Amino acid sequence: MSEAILVAEDLSAGYGKLVIQRDLNFAIRRGEIFVIMGGSGCGKSTLLRHLIGLQAPLAGRVLFDGEDFWAHDEDSRAALQQHFGVLYQNGALWGAMTLRENICLPLAAYRPMLREAELNELAALKLGLVGLAGCDELYPSQLSGGMRKRAALARALALDPQVLFFDEPSAGLDPISSLALDELILQLRDSLGASIVLVTHELPSIHAVADTCLFLDAEARTQIALGPVQQLLDEAPDKVQRFLRRGERGQTTEAE
Ligand SMILES: Nc1ncnc2c1ncn2[C@@H]1O[C@H](COP(=O)(O)OP(=O)(O)OP(=O)(O)O)[C@@H](O)[C@H]1O
Ligand SMILES: [Mg+2]
Repeated sequence: MSEAILVAEDLSAGYGKLVIQRDLNFAIRRGEIFVIMGGSGCGKSTLLRHLIGLQAPLAGRVLFDGEDFWAHDEDSRAALQQHFGVLYQNGALWGAMTLRENICLPLAAYRPMLREAELNELAALKLGLVGLAGCDELYPSQLSGGMRKRAALARALALDPQVLFFDEPSAGLDPISSLALDELILQLRDSLGASIVLVTHELPSIHAVADTCLFLDAEARTQIALGPVQQLLDEAPDKVQRFLRRGERGQTTEAE
């Protein structure tokens, strides 16, 4: 089993005095696809904020590559954050900029030594990685929803992240586009060797890509299952099994 890149230790997630999830313990290994699931409002996006470095957890630690992320000062945290690529739940591209400019902006900020021609070349390369070769000069409004997701993904890839975070990337996509996105996620993991943290409740995605799943429960306010999908199907609490089997004959779709 390969080593952990990101670890949560006794982590409490929330805002100020409001604890949304507590006692979270899990390790995300290098090169794995780690899926965070659970009903709406259980705290998935909040947990991501703590992992990504947007907001300190209420308790516990986040270890990135063995280092206590939140024990660093702001500057060294920002340096570590370069290794994260993020596709936010409502993440939008900058509408007044072309795709090339959207990707060059984070690149120019973190790689000031690069010349403009090199930045443009890198932007073109990232667009190629997500199947948008040649779309450099298009504006977001000129793209379909699925293409826009892929463009946002290209931007998240700008700094060659070690960990890529996706918050419900297939929301609003038709089944074919979300299937294409799943394939792209698998491809990126294989070609870049990056770890991928994916928040989703789309069963086809979970079954297609997940190596490890974490289930956050809104009532218990903590994780109630952690492991490979098959293991969860075999031995997780009923609630998790119902979530994973919804849509099968005889199962309700309450989790939707
Ligand atoms: N900035 C905030 N301040 C206080 N509470 C918040 C804030 N943002 C979210 N919450 C609350 O935290 C809880 C968890 O929200 P979160 O967005 O993490 O859920 P989620 O699991 O991502 O849901 P969804 O599947 O709908 O995206 C919700 O009850 C929400 O109202
Ligand atoms: Mg969310």
